[in-house]
Amino acid sequence: MNNKSLIAVWGSPSSGKTLTTVKLAQAFAAQKQNVLILCCDALCPSISTIAPQEAAKHASLGELLSLPSLSQEDVLRFAMPLDVTPHIALLGYKKGDNAFTYAAYNRERVVDLLTLARHLADVVLVDCSSFLSADPLSTVALELADHVVRLHSCDLKSLMFYASYLPLVADARFRRASVLPVLSNVKPSQDSREYRHVFGGIQLTLPHVAQLEQQTAAAKLLEHGSGKEAIAYQKAFNQLLTLLQPQEGKEAPKSKVRLPFQSLCKELERLKRLWPKRRGEGQ
Ligand SMILES: Nc1ncnc2c1ncn2[C@@H]1O[C@H](COP(=O)(O)OP(=O)(O)OP(=O)(O)O)[C@@H](O)[C@H]1O
Ligand SMILES: [Mg+2]
Repeated sequence: MNNKSLIAVWGSPSSGKTLTTVKLAQAFAAQKQNVLILCCDALCPSISTIAPQEAAKHASLGELLSLPSLSQEDVLRFAMPLDVTPHIALLGYKKGDNAFTYAAYNRERVVDLLTLARHLADVVLVDCSSFLSADPLSTVALELADHVVRLHSCDLKSLMFYASYLPLVADARFRRASVLPVLSNVKPSQDSREYRHVFGGIQLTLPHVAQLEQQTAAAKLLEHGSGKEAIAYQKAFNQLLTLLQPQEGKEAPKSKVRLPFQSLCKELERLKRLWPKRRGEGQ
C-alpha cells in the first residue's frame, strides 16, 4: 500500500459514524482531495440516506465485492460520484439489499478493495459498521487504517458496547492505526465529564447540533451548517481534521495530474463507449 490516507470511522451504534464520515469527506474535498467513502453498513444501507438522488441509479458495493476479481476500473465503475462536489464518490449497499442479496466475500477481497481504493483516492474514508463480527470490510479497514476515529456517546449503551468490543480490537493486528477516541453528539444536558472519565483517553468532544440531526433526518447531510451551535461543532471538528492530516515529513507524495472523481468516472464512461468500436464490435 502507498501512504495515502485510509481513515476508518468506527464506534458504538448511533454514535455519529455516518455523519462524521460525511463531514470529514466534505472537509477533505474542500481541500481538493479526492475522497472515496466506503459505507459498510449492510444492515441499514446508508447511501440512499446520504445522496438519495444519485443512489437510486447506482450499483451496490455488494455486487462489486462479489465480482470474480477486482480491478481499479471496477472500483471506479461502481463508485458513485456526487453532483454537489466533484471530489467525493461513494460505494455502499443499496436500498433493499440484505445479507442474502450477494455472495459472501473473504478477507483477501477486502484487502484488494482497500488497496485499489487507496490508489484511486487521496483519502479513503470507511464508515464502519459497529458489529465487526458480522462485517469483514469494517474489520479489515480497522486493521489497515492509518487513523481510526473511534466515536463514543454519552450513554450506557455506548459503555456496554465498548466493554464488549474493545477486547476484540486489542489484538496486535489492530495496532497499526493511530486511534482518536472522540466523544460524539454530546448534548448540554449530558454529563460528558463523567463519561470522559469512564471511557478514558478521549481526545476531543463533538457537540450536538440540532441542525445536523435535521440534516440526517431529511437525507441532506451534504448541506453545510451555520449558526452558533454549528460554530462550536466546527471548532472541535477542525481539531479532529488537524489530527488526521499527514504529520510533517510524512506527507503523502503529490500525485501526478489527478482529475476530480466526477471527471474520472465520466472519462471511464467515455472510454467504455469507445471500447466496442475499437474491437470492431458495435458496428
Ligand atoms: N454532532 C451531532 N449533532 C446532532 N446530531 C448528531 C450528531 N452526531 C450524530 N447525530 C445524530 O445521531 C444519530 C446517529 O448518527 P449516525 O447515523 O451518523 O450514527 P451511526 O453511528 O452511523 O449509526 P449506525 O450505528 O446506525 O450506523 C443521527 O440522527 C444523527 O443526526
Ligand atoms: Mg451509520
